[in-house]
Amino acid sequence: MSAGAGVDLTGKGAVVTGSGRGLGRAYAQALAAAGAGVVVNDVDAETAQATVDAIVADGGSAVAVVAPVGPTATADRLVAAAVEAFGRLDVLVTNAGVLRDRVLWKTTDEDFDLVVDTHLRGTFTCARAAAAQMRERGEGGRIVLVGSPAGQHGNFGQTSYAAAKAGIVAMARTWSLELARAGITVNAVVPTAITAMTATIPVYAEVAAAYDRGEPLPRTVRQEHALGGPEDVAPLVVWLASEASAGVTGQAIGIGGDKLSVYSVPQELAVTYREGGWSAEAIGEAWGSTFGPHLQPSGITLPPLEPPT
Ligand SMILES: NC(=O)c1ccc[n+]([C@@H]2O[C@H](COP(=O)([O-])OP(=O)(O)OC[C@H]3O[C@@H](n4cnc5c(N)ncnc54)[C@H](O)[C@@H]3O)[C@@H](O)[C@H]2O)c1
Repeated sequence: MSAGAGVDLTGKGAVVTGSGRGLGRAYAQALAAAGAGVVVNDVDAETAQATVDAIVADGGSAVAVVAPVGPTATADRLVAAAVEAFGRLDVLVTNAGVLRDRVLWKTTDEDFDLVVDTHLRGTFTCARAAAAQMRERGEGGRIVLVGSPAGQHGNFGQTSYAAAKAGIVAMARTWSLELARAGITVNAVVPTAITAMTATIPVYAEVAAAYDRGEPLPRTVRQEHALGGPEDVAPLVVWLASEASAGVTGQAIGIGGDKLSVYSVPQELAVTYREGGWSAEAIGEAWGSTFGPHLQPSGITLPPLEPPT
């Protein structure tokens, strides 16, 4: 079954950042297969052109814009390219990303800035340019942002990445409020998939190699670890891009392998009041009995991987 089965995006214009390879390429191909014209963006000219060529070979419509997301100038170029090539912009997917994993005390200013500029600023500038265009046209639109489990839970060695991805989900919730009147939905996909990015994580090296060899992945991998290929994630992006998802906005939606989920907004789990306010001593007294049972774990918890078959 194709990623866009049952969804018709004919006549729509879309931008997918970082779509030269990995998840972005799968999103671009799936949107194009559903009928949308796609602006393929990447910093890598060769891979961007390869995605365009693959879409065109399949009978779809695509153009490449090679530029780094982050700066406003790139965002403006991407929106202009969609309008020029397809007459309109209906869908923006802010997928481009990089990792510079280091523990806090080894994180350099340069690494932090690169990750935050690409993910957080890149999402901000592209969404701002797209929202302006969509509001001006007055026919609504779809903005699909990309979070990560690391942003939802925190993750060892991912200071800049977790910060950027948590910020992106916060922006999705904020923009869903600001753009509702214009009929523009804003959601964050929280994907997991085997790509060049995950292949660099030592625990997944063997799983990634098995996937590359075309071997079926064990059930634990596809379900508890929510890991499959990029093609397992793309249907959510197509659905969010379509009319069928009207009314779904401000959500963080997990997808990967066989798993689909929706994340909660952080809630107060336990509340207590003290008339006149709290002293440090009173907090200490109330802590154990009232809050002790509610302490929250940090980090992503997953079951051990099955040994390769
Ligand atoms: N793979 C996963 O399991 C996973 C999990 C959570 C989140 N994500 C997110 O999904 C997105 C795609 O990840 P992926 O696994 O396909 O990674 P990937 O490394 O395979 O692909 C990322 C693409 O973005 C491009 N890129 C990097 N910086 C760019 C920039 N400034 N401007 C334009 N393009 C740029 C790269 O050249 C590459 O083609 C990222 O935002 C990533 O954080 C992935």
